[in-house]
Amino acid sequence: MIESVRILVLGGTWFLGRFLVEEALRRGHTVTTFNRGRVDPGAEGVESRHGDRANPADLEALVAGREWDTVVDTSGMIPRLVSLSARRLDGHVARYVFVSTVNVYRGWPTEPLTEASPVRECDPGAGDEDLGESVTDRQGRLKSGCERAVGEVFGDRSAILRPGVILGPHEYVGRLPWWLTRIAKGGRVLAPGYPERPFQAVDVRDVAAFALHAAERALGGAFNVCPPIGQETYGGLLTGCVRASGSPADLTWVDDAFLLARQVGMWRELPLWRVHPGAWQVCAAGARAAGLRTRPLWETVVDTWRWMSSGGIPVAHQRRDLIGIDPAKEQRILREWLSEAGRSGRGA
Ligand SMILES: NC(=O)c1ccc[n+]([C@@H]2O[C@H](COP(=O)([O-])OP(=O)(O)OC[C@H]3O[C@@H](n4cnc5c(N)ncnc54)[C@H](OP(=O)(O)O)[C@@H]3O)[C@@H](O)[C@H]2O)c1
Repeated sequence: MIESVRILVLGGTWFLGRFLVEEALRRGHTVTTFNRGRVDPGAEGVESRHGDRANPADLEALVAGREWDTVVDTSGMIPRLVSLSARRLDGHVARYVFVSTVNVYRGWPTEPLTEASPVRECDPGAGDEDLGESVTDRQGRLKSGCERAVGEVFGDRSAILRPGVILGPHEYVGRLPWWLTRIAKGGRVLAPGYPERPFQAVDVRDVAAFALHAAERALGGAFNVCPPIGQETYGGLLTGCVRASGSPADLTWVDDAFLLARQVGMWRELPLWRVHPGAWQVCAAGARAAGLRTRPLWETVVDTWRWMSSGGIPVAHQRRDLIGIDPAKEQRILREWLSEAGRSGRGA
């Protein structure tokens, strides 16, 4: 029997935080959320406090005369601001659960990873100035600095969660929604690479449940949060979209090299497509031994489709505008591929 935990969520209203709050309430915990109040998910039974985590006075007002057992920080992106919240919350919360990313590893996405793999360097006092050459490097370094900022104050009273890509209902970056929408439209669909490619996205509800598990069991240390390596495939993702949407779409698998030679952008133009050998080789055995449970990819796909079909609208986010290949470019590449495949005798 798990005792009720008093949880403060820094965030709580867009995607992961939304499910975290919902599940925490279902488990009988007491929940306070702190955010700027731009979105109201209408969760009953939550104490919602508004303020900007960049503003020391807002943090001061939040903690005055208050205590919680655990803070779960879903919105920490900038080390200096995470340092600010960690210092201000110390003495008011016993433990800190920080949601980081697998991107903190120097070897992501090129090498297989465990929690012992080296992480990118970043000062815990860093701001959001340009820290890296690529978006991956910059984001990874910032999160790494955030992790250090938490560690400096909370040490072994902290748990660091490092999820891989997170999918599910309410996903605002729009990666799985893009595939579902594209495939639902039907016709010949450009499927990148090959169907057996391993794929390792984690369901948002499983990350939320593990964050709560970390709060309930006072877990400490760093945990990769992903399904087991090799359990799912990219083919499973796309055929799942076909099944879920009931579309007559025809998936045509096109070689990585063919797409790269035509400047098709990994991750953005064709969401979730990465050719790097380490992208889906993240070992989460530590989290699994500590209690992480992950659902089959199919459930994530079908539940996201149900959410979309019932009029679900994610929070507006600028990253969503960057997702997806131009339909004319997709069809042009397919024509080129099929004519070349016809010439060389390759199957489509
Ligand atoms: N999506 C992925 O694939 C992925 C992968 C790995 C790791 N992650 C990590 O997982 C976490 C998921 O985040 P989420 O967006 O789903 O969490 P969320 O808690 O659902 O949403 C973000 C929250 O932060 C609040 N917020 C943003 N800026 C704020 C500020 N300056 N002051 C106070 N509140 C602020 C937002 O509300 P207001 O706008 O109203 O303030 C919102 O409630 C992130 O840390 C992300 O880096 C994501």
